[in-house]
Amino acid sequence: MKYYIKTFGCQMNVHDSEKLAGMLQSLGYKEQADTTKDADIIVFNTCCIRDGVEQKIMGNIGALKKLKKSKPHLIIAICGCMSQAEGRSEMILSKFPFVDIIFGTHNIHALKDLILQYQEGNRRHIIDVWPEARGIYEDIEISRDGLFSNAWVNINYGCNNFCSYCIVPYVRGRERSRNMADIVSECRSIVADGYKYITLLGQNVNSYGNDIDDENINFANLLKEIASIPGDFRIKFMTSHPKDLTLDVIKVIAENEKICKCIHLPVQSGSNNILKLMNRKYTREHYLSVVENIRQFMPDAYISTDIIVGFPGETDEDFMDTYNLVKDVKYDGVFAFMFSKRSGTVAAKMDNQIDEDTKKDRIHKLLQLSKSVTKDNNKQSIGKIYNILTINHEDNNTIAQSDSGKTILIENSSLELNKFYKARIIRFANNKLIAEIIN
Ligand code: SAH
Ligand code: SF4
Ligand code: F3S
Repeated sequence: MKYYIKTFGCQMNVHDSEKLAGMLQSLGYKEQADTTKDADIIVFNTCCIRDGVEQKIMGNIGALKKLKKSKPHLIIAICGCMSQAEGRSEMILSKFPFVDIIFGTHNIHALKDLILQYQEGNRRHIIDVWPEARGIYEDIEISRDGLFSNAWVNINYGCNNFCSYCIVPYVRGRERSRNMADIVSECRSIVADGYKYITLLGQNVNSYGNDIDDENINFANLLKEIASIPGDFRIKFMTSHPKDLTLDVIKVIAENEKICKCIHLPVQSGSNNILKLMNRKYTREHYLSVVENIRQFMPDAYISTDIIVGFPGETDEDFMDTYNLVKDVKYDGVFAFMFSKRSGTVAAKMDNQIDEDTKKDRIHKLLQLSKSVTKDNNKQSIGKIYNILTINHEDNNTIAQSDSGKTILIENSSLELNKFYKARIIRFANNKLIAEIIN
């Protein structure tokens, strides 16, 4: 018996899918099938962050109709943020009555039970979407995908920020922090298993511990605790909210060899008017001061961002504020999105919605700019020293990855794989960074 899990959306979902895979394996489903046709159960772990993503998922579900008809024993299950969103489970079932099981984000731990109920009972469908979270479930089997030896670890779930455009607080619930001892013990076993990177996950990692009544339980102390685990590994984390990334945390990152100097710091907009309408709770000036603190303590830090263009009321001037901010910060990575109305959010009801052509024009300009900024950054990186992990041999060269995920080539070498080295960038050619090993 084989399973086929398809994941849409963010890293949170990627990791949730590792839990789904773990649970399926413990039920006797042996491995991931190459295609949906070879599978005995298909699970779509969905996302609803933008309308385009939902449309794509609907297309993917629709495409299963024939398969289900020709293979009646096949189980089709839909879970994740889209099933959790209001009205979606009913909509999925009415459009796609061949779907067997629908569940949400708050009961992904229940997959095994739901499958057993479905198989034992004579119900045609099982729909089980909990309106809210009921605590944190530890001890879920995880089948990790060892890509680049990275292991994901949840530190907090949910979000309390209610940015006016965002559906995440509605589909992931209020912020809940995991026990520090549980996180640290998970990290210990990940290190013992030989993983090289641990990536801590939360919608806002900086607010880790805010819901726990103990002032020592906070993100800075969590980082220190994990970094003190003996072993040859490094720590990453995402996402940082600019209003909560304090100098304390920046110093802990800067001072600790084991913590990667990679900070994903979504700005969303460079205009104070728009930031206010977005309910981001910081100003352009505050954001730039956080970037300055990062650069002061970690001159070589890799900083990336998310941006929304075409938020309701965004004028050409507001957009230029964003454009100029991207130019000034010289980001290493820019993820830009066109504003998408999410029903139930405040921004969906705002006046002055922006037309699609303007959004397209703005995103195009921003992506052009970010391409040229990234190219400049690559050129600027000549002479810089990176921490790299060797991942492959190709022709006569060793291929490695920097902490920030850049591909680095060490020519005419056959270095031991899955090992950290320090490397100095010597050239930038054909879109590749070429480096020499210095330790
Ligand atoms: N918790 C993270 C990321 C959340 S979702 C954070 O606070 O940054 C990932 C990104 O999707 C967001 O950073 C935002 O840029 C984008 N996004 C969220 N809602 C959106 C919407 N309605 N339309 C377009 N982009 C959106
Ligand atoms: Fe959404 Fe804002 Fe929460 Fe990020 S911080 S998940 S953008 S509400
Ligand atoms: Fe992530 Fe999409 Fe849900 S971005 S939290 S999977 S809505």
